[in-house]
Amino acid sequence: MIDYYKHDEWCIIEEGFSKDFHLASESAFSLGNEYFGQRANFEEHYSGKTLKGSYIAGIYYPDKTKVGWWKNGYPDYFAKLLNAPSWIGIYVEVDGEVLDLDKIKVENFRRTLNMKEGYLEREFIANFANGNRIFVKTKRFLSFVDRELGMIKYQIKNLGKGFSLKISPSIDGDVINEAANWEKHLWDIPNKLNVENQAYLFAMSKKLNFEVCTAMTYDLHKNGEQFVEFDTDQIEFEKLLQHEIMLDLDENDTINFFKYSTVTHTENYPRTKLQEKANVNLLYAFNKGFDKLFEEHKNEWARKWASCDIVIDGDITAQQAIRFNIFHLLQTYSGHDSRLNLSPKGFTGEKYGGGAYWDTEAFCFPFYLGTSYPDVAKNLLLYRYNHLSKAIENAEKLGFTDGAALYPMVTMNGEECHNEWEITFEEIHRNGAIAYAIFNYANYTGDTEYISDYGLEVLIAIARFWAQRFNFSEDKKQYVMLGVTGPNEYENNVHNNWYTSKIAQWCLIYTGKQIEFVKTKTPEKYKQLVSKTNFDESSELANWSEIASNVYFPEDKKRGVFLQQDGFLDKELKNANELDESERPINQHWSWDRILRSCFIKQADVLQGLYFFEDEYDKDTLKRNFDFYEPMTVHESSLSPSLHAVLANSLGYTQKAYEMFLRSSRYDLDDFNNELHEGCHITSMAGSWLVIIEGFGGRRVRNNKLYLNPAIPEQWKSYSFNFNFKQTILKVAVDKSKVIVENQGISPIGFYVYDKDFHLEPGENTEVKLRK
Ligand code: BGC
Repeated sequence: MIDYYKHDEWCIIEEGFSKDFHLASESAFSLGNEYFGQRANFEEHYSGKTLKGSYIAGIYYPDKTKVGWWKNGYPDYFAKLLNAPSWIGIYVEVDGEVLDLDKIKVENFRRTLNMKEGYLEREFIANFANGNRIFVKTKRFLSFVDRELGMIKYQIKNLGKGFSLKISPSIDGDVINEAANWEKHLWDIPNKLNVENQAYLFAMSKKLNFEVCTAMTYDLHKNGEQFVEFDTDQIEFEKLLQHEIMLDLDENDTINFFKYSTVTHTENYPRTKLQEKANVNLLYAFNKGFDKLFEEHKNEWARKWASCDIVIDGDITAQQAIRFNIFHLLQTYSGHDSRLNLSPKGFTGEKYGGGAYWDTEAFCFPFYLGTSYPDVAKNLLLYRYNHLSKAIENAEKLGFTDGAALYPMVTMNGEECHNEWEITFEEIHRNGAIAYAIFNYANYTGDTEYISDYGLEVLIAIARFWAQRFNFSEDKKQYVMLGVTGPNEYENNVHNNWYTSKIAQWCLIYTGKQIEFVKTKTPEKYKQLVSKTNFDESSELANWSEIASNVYFPEDKKRGVFLQQDGFLDKELKNANELDESERPINQHWSWDRILRSCFIKQADVLQGLYFFEDEYDKDTLKRNFDFYEPMTVHESSLSPSLHAVLANSLGYTQKAYEMFLRSSRYDLDDFNNELHEGCHITSMAGSWLVIIEGFGGRRVRNNKLYLNPAIPEQWKSYSFNFNFKQTILKVAVDKSKVIVENQGISPIGFYVYDKDFHLEPGENTEVKLRK
């Protein structure tokens, strides 16, 4: 854990340049707008360690699966979000000396991510060996309004004597994915075009033929005036287009160089229209100008924040962290396009390949449900609905039949593309999270039509999978689930993972209930579905109910806890705090063999189940399990601390909840597991939001009814949050003595605070004494 960035309510600030931490900062300061994203690489040349990263949502490469020992059923490829042509390059030379922060003396370096207005800013003084000295200030944003546009303002002020300046904007197609097999280049450059003050570079992916046009135009101002009298050389390399602008700067001269870039691609336009569309974008951006474009972008961020900001008074560390989490979530996905999803690193790094994981349903879904129009959460559900046939094919490949579906562990287009056997074949609990999100949506929004129109079809296919995946043990006379990996990936190929069996059992029961519901409510739709899915109501339902009523769950009756899996108690049970700091994180210090045999838990496993199904258990059961498992948990998945914080709150462990909240929300900012250089943990950021809303705020929704049970951490003076519920928006403000709930929407709303019911008309609020 480090404490590197300055604490500030709205900004992430790096003061002084650390070359050692640069890769990590490139991740933390990344920008994105759901459509494309950009690591915080420098515009100018940098010869030090860097991961140049420009990514476009949905544009990936199916890289051949490379494993030591092939196992039947492996997917053919592992998808990689393509590292796309870079649009940010601005090469600078002063009297022939290259501006390269790795080589020259840098003073007063400051890099700021302004989360309120959605931009990245950097300033520094560069002292060249040839005696020249300049002040540089850059500002970059990816428009939240015109999502195909990225803009840079690059300011240079001459702090010394006159010199000649070369400033060269470029589009660079010579890019490579960090983890590409055999370090292969994954793009061809079929075409490139330099025209006056514009450049267009076309890149075609070597597989799947995605084509991307990356284009730029620019404008130069000198001492506040537009400056047109400069010479430009247009240079064309094999994969790079660069325009070289030469000009002389006298003492105190300042130039502002504006670079307007755009990205268009074949997922959105016909191939023949890419250039035309890019040209329209460039002209639009150029004519509007940097400041106006930024103004609109900033206003859009203000609108976003108005619906989902969380204000914490008295704890700037927590305030900064939660905004950092919300900011990155919104940059990664805003729900405009049901073909897109969130990947664990978003646009901030390449680990995990850029595909969608169970993280979306288990962690991110509630965030979008609570902060956006229902259509956004619905798009996330439709993403899986649209992949149902692929999930059925995926299950067939593994030997399942009759319409059983196994959703992939990682996917871009519905196909499985994860290829570690213990996860691909065994971490099947992901199917449960996808069903749970359907439940969550219907429970939260009351939109049961979704179940009839789409949800039930998915549920049936998932239930079919579980019915085949359980097997009857003659020995136990119960249904068992063999050879699985639970959420705790520090155990593989275990039998009867409590969480997996629990969520599987729940899916069978829930699907049975939804069948009854759809059959009664919309008999016509039900009939169509029966025929579409070949559903044999009496025998399938009877089978599901027989299995669900007789599932084997490992338990330790003496301690009164559910067992993570068979044999868990044979382990040497130790607390994580007995580990020496030098051994942590254990996944970077221990052999895999040692990890597998140890009791240490990567992330919530039994507790993941108790989080989802909290209402089925009494407080003592929750407490016994929490007290047993949490001390053995090393939280080496970023998904871990948030869930523990929510549960800790339910149990009244507010201090523990607070610690876990900070760990979750500052996981990247304080680089808890030395992984920030690989990218930020975007999907787990939604967990931090959950800690405020469901943890400290104690929000629960049961049968479409809202319950609030707020508490406040000792460290905070007050906090407030908003969320959408039933066509209205509620603001909840909590301080040391009271809770104020305000209906900020346009519809009346009923809800409970500490089990007492309230009704608010639009504009009304109510005050309740804080329960200690
Ligand atoms: C976690 C998984 C998660 C993946 C992507 C892993 O470290 O164990 O649960 O799906 O990261 O976030």
